[in-house]
Order: sequence, then C-alpha cells, then structure tokens
Amino acid sequence: MRGFITDPAGRAGLRLTDELPEPNPAADEAVVAVRAFAINHDERNLIARRPDGWRPGQDVAGVVVRAAANGTGPAVRTRVVCYLDWEGWAERVPVPVHRMAPLPDAVGFEQAASLPIAGMTALRALRVGGAVLGRHVLVTGATGGVGQFAVQLARAAGARVTALVSKPSRVEQARALGAHRVVTSLTDESGAPFHLVLDGVGGPVLADAIRAIAPGGHLAWYGNPGRDGAHIALADFYAQGWNAHIVGLISPAPEETLGEDLGILVQLVADGLLRPHIGLTLDWTATADAFAALADRTLQGKAVLTIPA
Ligand SMILES: NC(=O)c1ccc[n+]([C@@H]2O[C@H](COP(=O)([O-])OP(=O)(O)OC[C@H]3O[C@@H](n4cnc5c(N)ncnc54)[C@H](OP(=O)(O)O)[C@@H]3O)[C@@H](O)[C@H]2O)c1
Repeated sequence: MRGFITDPAGRAGLRLTDELPEPNPAADEAVVAVRAFAINHDERNLIARRPDGWRPGQDVAGVVVRAAANGTGPAVRTRVVCYLDWEGWAERVPVPVHRMAPLPDAVGFEQAASLPIAGMTALRALRVGGAVLGRHVLVTGATGGVGQFAVQLARAAGARVTALVSKPSRVEQARALGAHRVVTSLTDESGAPFHLVLDGVGGPVLADAIRAIAPGGHLAWYGNPGRDGAHIALADFYAQGWNAHIVGLISPAPEETLGEDLGILVQLVADGLLRPHIGLTLDWTATADAFAALADRTLQGKAVLTIPA
C-alpha cells in the first residue's frame, strides 16, 4: 500500500513509499480509503521530531471500505471525515468509529478534510466562552487555518467578532469570513473589552489580548507561532480583565466526542454556515509543496491534498 513515512533526507522530511502493510483494524475500527487530507501547522514540528519511518496524517476524508467488526459505526461505501493521531496520509487507514462522522451529500472530500484539527480547535475554543450571542469575541491569527473557522463559528453563534490579522493585506480576507471588525493591532477601537478571546498566536499578542479581556471573561489559548517575547504579568489583568480565566486548550480532548463534534462541523458546512477556505489543493504527491507554502506564510486558509480513487 502507498503512503507517506518520515525521512529526514526527503523534502519536508517525508517520503512516499509503496511498501506499507495493509491496515489491520481492531474490532472497533473501520477501514477508510482516503480521498483527501489536510496538513496542519504543528505537523511540521511533529514530522521533525519523530523517528525515520513514522507515519504522519491526522485530517482525513474518504470512503469506508470495511466496516468495524463489532458492528458499530458506518457501513461500507459511507463517505466520512476522520480525526486521527497518525497514519492518515496513505491510501487506506484504520479508524476507530468514535473518531469519524458521515458526510452530508453537500459536503465534498476536500472541504471535509480541511475540518478535523482546525475546525475542532475552533469549535471547542468557542465553547470556552459559553453563550456568546451579542457578546464581543476576539479571534487572533484570524485568517489562519484555525482562525478562519473561529471567526465563522463565532459569527454563526451570534457574537460581535473582531478579527486580528498579521498585516493589512489580510484585512479583506478576514472581512469575507464575516468579521464585524478587522484590526492589525489591539487599540481602543478594537471592540474591547472582549467576553471571549480565541488566541492562536501567543507571544506579545497574548499579553495584549489579556489586557483587552472583560472582567470575568475567558481566553482560550491554543497556539503559539508568535511565541518569542511572551511575558504575562498579573498587572495585565488589572487593566480590566479582573478574575478572567485563561484556558490552555488541547483540542483533541475529550476523545470520545470527536466523532460527534465532526458531525456538528460537517452539518454546519452543509447548512452554509461554515465555508472552509482552502487556499491550496494539490495531488498528494505534491505534499512537500503544500508544506513549503505553510512554512513561508504565503498560504491563505487550508492546504488540502487529494488521492485519486
Ligand atoms: N492546542 C491545540 O489543540 C491546537 C490545535 C490546532 C492548532 N494549534 C496551534 O495553533 C496555532 C495556529 O494553527 P493554524 O493551523 O491555524 O496555523 P496557520 O494556518 O499557520 O495560521 C497561523 C496564524 O497565525 C498568524 N501568525 C503567525 N505568526 C504570527 C505572528 N508572529 N504574529 C501575528 N500573527 C501570526 C498567521 O498570520 P499570517 O498567515 O498572516 O502570517 C496565521 O493567521 C499553531 O501554533 C498550531 O500549532 C493548536
């Protein structure tokens, strides 16, 4: 079977090999023929850290070709989206049934593959703030993989959304996602104080965001690409965020409800309330090119790779 393994000598630390074993599923696992997968920011680090021959791949969409032996989960020929820990960048992959959701007819493989990690992180981060109807929500890194979903989900939940982007050339893209206000730095005109902050940038942006939280508000901190220079002081909370809460969000937890939450995300896409912004779609043999676009920050939205049927 064909699939990617880590190889420090390969571009992006990857090599496509024809010599993988066929999946050997556990009783609660279905086998999925992969049709599309997405790459994520953190997978670059994961690939660099893992030993040679490790098999990456977390965001996957495809078709069930073998149902779980214990009789649970979707039947053969069901189109599904899956959230995996690894092994997903291959022709076929075993998937625990609680980590997948069937796709509505209106949702394509490429759209679905863009959702698992990025969409799950945005959905679960938004829940940190409870009801956001009419309340002010700030999304940092708003045009990134997670940020684009966070803006749209906050808007769909009825929040007044401020999007913080890295540079003026990103402003229009953030507006198109539905943000009420788009800023390149946090000032008095940013819409603060915020009931909820969704922060995927960290570093100095995190400290600025803390100073903009409403009293008793929440900040879900899930990412750190801007980590240099991070410094948080108790005094930052004195600005206005008295007794505010910071949650270090680890989005795959809880694991048992990953399938249920994937089901929510794909239904929102089918209903037209969530539109995955895919900036790059390539055949899976060009996965290294997609990582290059992610690394040099030229990518807008998600990069998706497709595997021919
Ligand atoms: N905790 C979890 O469970 C979890 C889950 C998913 C992701 N993450 C983490 O969340 C972060 C975002 O992930 P992603 O997939 O959305 O990545 P991404 O697609 O690369 O997006 C990153 C976003 O952050 C912005 N950004 C990067 N460096 C910046 C800086 N120094 N100052 C201001 N903005 C900056 C980028 O803006 P430009 O594109 O305009 O440069 C982009 O909007 C990553 O650190 C990732 O590892 C964590």
